[in-house]
Amino acid sequence: MSTTPASKPFPKKFLWGASTAAHQVEGGNHNQWSVWELENAKSLATQSEYHYHDLESWSRIKKEATSPQNYISGDASDHYVQYEKDFDILTKLNMNAFRFSVEWSRIEPQEGAWNAEAIEHYKHYVQALKQREIEPIVTLFHFTLPVWFSELGGFEKKKNIHYFTRFAEKIISELGVSVRYIITINEPEVYAHESYLAGNWPPMRQSKKTMITVLNNLAIAHKQAAKVIHTLNRRYKVSVAKNSCYFYAGDDALLSRKTADIMQYGQDDYFLKKVAKHCDFLGVNYYFSNRVYGYRVHNPDIDMSDLGWDLSPANIQQVLERLHDKYELPIIITENGLADATDEHRKWWLTHTIIAMQRAMAYGVKLEGYLHWSLLDNFEWDKGKWPRFGLIAVDYATQKRSARPSAIWLSKTLKKLRGI
Ligand code: BGC
Repeated sequence: MSTTPASKPFPKKFLWGASTAAHQVEGGNHNQWSVWELENAKSLATQSEYHYHDLESWSRIKKEATSPQNYISGDASDHYVQYEKDFDILTKLNMNAFRFSVEWSRIEPQEGAWNAEAIEHYKHYVQALKQREIEPIVTLFHFTLPVWFSELGGFEKKKNIHYFTRFAEKIISELGVSVRYIITINEPEVYAHESYLAGNWPPMRQSKKTMITVLNNLAIAHKQAAKVIHTLNRRYKVSVAKNSCYFYAGDDALLSRKTADIMQYGQDDYFLKKVAKHCDFLGVNYYFSNRVYGYRVHNPDIDMSDLGWDLSPANIQQVLERLHDKYELPIIITENGLADATDEHRKWWLTHTIIAMQRAMAYGVKLEGYLHWSLLDNFEWDKGKWPRFGLIAVDYATQKRSARPSAIWLSKTLKKLRGI
């Protein structure tokens, strides 16, 4: 780990931006998630007290968390309609990059039937970014699937992968060279774990075997998609967005150290070893660390997000340096942030993250970008709308956007860091 003082300036071409996902912000989607939300909103609302009552934020979030409405994405942040306004916000924030996902269920609502209107929408969307000199970073699969694809068994079945590859080829050939950076799959382990082992997300399966099958199929899906995309144009830069938390031993015991190493390996390397050769860079999502005692994770409860996640922003340095040492690929931080409705910790989090990034770069990490999760408050999957990840707060009743103080601070900081 490098302890070099954080003095190295960021390169001129460094990508500074924010990240979103279609289903979490667009509104009006019909996919396997929206179907599941309608079936499960009531029970999620009923169970919320059991799951979240010991969060510090409980008294503040209780009203929202116990309402079934909270668990229905509905209009979400209305970004499908308001995207130009939201891109103007990126400009005000002095950002030059934006990560979003294209919603497969809009583009191919029925198997083999392309929706020209949806394709046009995303073409305009990308052009609207380019006009503002903002680099688009497009994700192809961010947890949502067309209903027909999930009814066929989704990524549980190897024989279904070609549908995803066909979608990848179609949408990238339509968007053309206006996009350069492509994420095929967002957080494969999180998707496989939540949907097929923990049973928290659709299709709510609890089978270790199926989880592994899905993970392996996602690795094949990445490789095949990367291949067709590179056949379209070798200049595309393709990767996955890998969730990476940092595991460390809480004491000196050999067992704690070994367990932390094994957990780190399991989390990062099982999947990356399969796909790294087929990546032009690594997309890294970092939210928290895990402290290990013996066989177990037991995190400090000093600084916590509204979701109760341990806040250790500086540890991103170790994540970056480890991935650099192992895979020697350029890295873009494709997500990083916290649920913080009152904006108590966000500026502190960003400050420590930026210092950690500079230290990692001084160590030798080829870091090319930082994308904050998220630009806007959005629909946080099975938790619904109460967790507030946005630099920009969204009032869901009026869809009014307002910048949180940390966003104003970040905008000034980026002006300095980018020398503009
Ligand atoms: C996901 C996002 C999610 C964020 C915060 C990541 O796991 O890619 O969709 O909103 O973390 O939980």
